[in-house]
Amino acid sequence: MKALILSGGKGSRLYPLTYTNAKQLIPVANKPVLFRVIEAIRDAGITDIGIIIGSGENGRRVQEAVATGDRWGVDITYIVQEAPLGLAHCVLIARDFLGDERFVMFLGDNVIEGGISNLIGEFEQADYNCQIVLTPVEEPQHYGVAELNPDRSIKRLVEKPRTPRSNLALVGIYMFDHHIHEAVRAIKPSWRGELEITDAIQWLVDQGLKVHPYIHHGWWIDTGKPIDMLAANSKVLEELVPKIEGFVDKDSQVDERVYIESGAQIINSVVRGPTIIGENTRIVNSYVGPFTSIYHDCVIENSEIEHSVILEHCQISDIPTRITDSLIGRHVVISHSELKPRAFKFTLGDHSRLGLI
Ligand code: DAU
Repeated sequence: MKALILSGGKGSRLYPLTYTNAKQLIPVANKPVLFRVIEAIRDAGITDIGIIIGSGENGRRVQEAVATGDRWGVDITYIVQEAPLGLAHCVLIARDFLGDERFVMFLGDNVIEGGISNLIGEFEQADYNCQIVLTPVEEPQHYGVAELNPDRSIKRLVEKPRTPRSNLALVGIYMFDHHIHEAVRAIKPSWRGELEITDAIQWLVDQGLKVHPYIHHGWWIDTGKPIDMLAANSKVLEELVPKIEGFVDKDSQVDERVYIESGAQIINSVVRGPTIIGENTRIVNSYVGPFTSIYHDCVIENSEIEHSVILEHCQISDIPTRITDSLIGRHVVISHSELKPRAFKFTLGDHSRLGLI
């Protein structure tokens, strides 16, 4: 079996972070979501992986970060998509790479509990032409939605319906045989101008092909929005194996469920788990956690941070109020100044959001 990871798209719901980085490269518990996807595929025994990337800077960044795939023992083929014309368009342009083999398609911004080994195992054994993954969600209108017949077979699939007929959302992991190639050629773009994979799978159902719905009961998060990023971070942190590779001084309290990466220093601070502190980051006279990931080469001084994701090379110092529920990009400086006039002084990128009290 082969794998196709979708890592193109604009990521506009995560602006401003995605102006300068691909959304799939934003870390969850200090590891890019895309790396987690590659590991899940590799752990399921698949090593021949195609990655769809955009034609701009973000595509180049993905290629730079993942490179040949050597690090994971997998073989990566990059497939450039000129414009984000839809999930089914990705299958269309990956035709040469995929050939007639069965494959798993995995959206590069999805994080799922428990990996995909069971799913792949089931698909490899069965005679299904396609297997989709469904899970109950609270707001199905934001996803592809499946309506099932009483015998659990698929009745209908609709992409982001205004009035959903069920609460079963399509998770961004799909398994196909060669019939999907005919399906993606047969469908027309949707109202949003995209070739929808949901429509292609509906085409398979209409042709009488065997599309099996696998119901997933663990957690699953599509990290499309900042709030989802924080939720995914919390879920993954809960599964983290604690470890202290860095330095913790005797005046600090670091509780269980904390991962301190190598070169990190915790000085006169309190760190509550689940939390991860990245390589060469310094936490000084501060409080961090729970549910917080601070990436590498940051400095947090005289400040308190909780339930947040802080990316690399940030400096946060002397902030009198606790920072919470925040997603902070790279090289951000947040500091307190005694200089007059006493005022907030901001340099914020386009689409930044600031919540003041
Ligand atoms: O996350 C699950 C949902 O993913 C499903 O429930 C929906 O049925 C499915 O259409 C999809 O919806 P999204 O609106 O979340 O898809 P999004 O545009 O965010 O794209 C998903 C991933 O695929 C993302 O990593 C970007 C990549 N992508 C997307 C498009 C449209 C591409 O590589 N090329 C594209 O043309």
